[in-house]
Amino acid sequence: MAITIRKLAEMKRDGEKIPMVTAYDYTAARIADAAGIPIILVGDSLGMVVLGYDSTVPVTMDDMVRHGRMVSRGSSEALVVVDLPFMSYQVDAAEALRNAGRLMQEGGAHTVKMEGGVSIAGTVRRMVDAGVPVMGHIGLTPQSVNALGGYRVQGRTKAAARRVLDDALALQEAGAYSVVLECVPAPLAKVITERLTIPTIGIGAGPDCDGQVQVFHDMLGLFPDFVPKHARKYAELGSDMTRAFEWYAEDVRNGAFPSEAESFTMNERLLVELLGEES
Ligand code: KIV
Repeated sequence: MAITIRKLAEMKRDGEKIPMVTAYDYTAARIADAAGIPIILVGDSLGMVVLGYDSTVPVTMDDMVRHGRMVSRGSSEALVVVDLPFMSYQVDAAEALRNAGRLMQEGGAHTVKMEGGVSIAGTVRRMVDAGVPVMGHIGLTPQSVNALGGYRVQGRTKAAARRVLDDALALQEAGAYSVVLECVPAPLAKVITERLTIPTIGIGAGPDCDGQVQVFHDMLGLFPDFVPKHARKYAELGSDMTRAFEWYAEDVRNGAFPSEAESFTMNERLLVELLGEES
């Protein structure tokens, strides 16, 4: 880990934007790390893009530990942030601490991320006091999709905007080192970013956040089921991969794969001798 939470604070102070991307395994983490991405998030979005669930709700601690470990093995420079999944921190602070400890000790997390603001501020304080760096996550909090009634932009009315702002301030006050703003109107995200001394990382929160986070599969065109409005595709790897598999299958069927270059040789005299011994 070359990137630290202190470095992120300096980046905000210096007006240097912070790119962050999700990754869920060793190979993906190596690719993101090699690209110089300073923060890799092992998001519980893995529930949808890796495990095939229709939300993040079924994701377990064991899932996060396993994928955290893969990502931490693949990243040498990036700060690795691992999501605490649904119901791993809401019951009480003691359980939250135990689970955060697991993510750091077994899952390779440098820091954890938690959804919620005012309602979890006490727990965040306990975790920070115990040496667990916490990234907050407010606005649209996908673990609460059933309570929110869907994936909707948050903070559009005056009262809702007040709540998002209060959540941001409560997390900062509790000692969080950064906060993700998801699906928050851009002007509100700008105000929050100006009010906070800790970096804001936006996803669907406009250009004025201190950093941006994108989901690996959305950016690379790997997840055809649903592409959110706030995602930008930087590649079409899904269709490239399908074409590659079609090409490979055709080569196998018509005998073009494998060629001599992809095969191994032996002294054929030995084979003749072996067959001779059989007869
Ligand atoms: O799980 C995730 O990928 C996230 C990002 C959307 C911020 O929390």
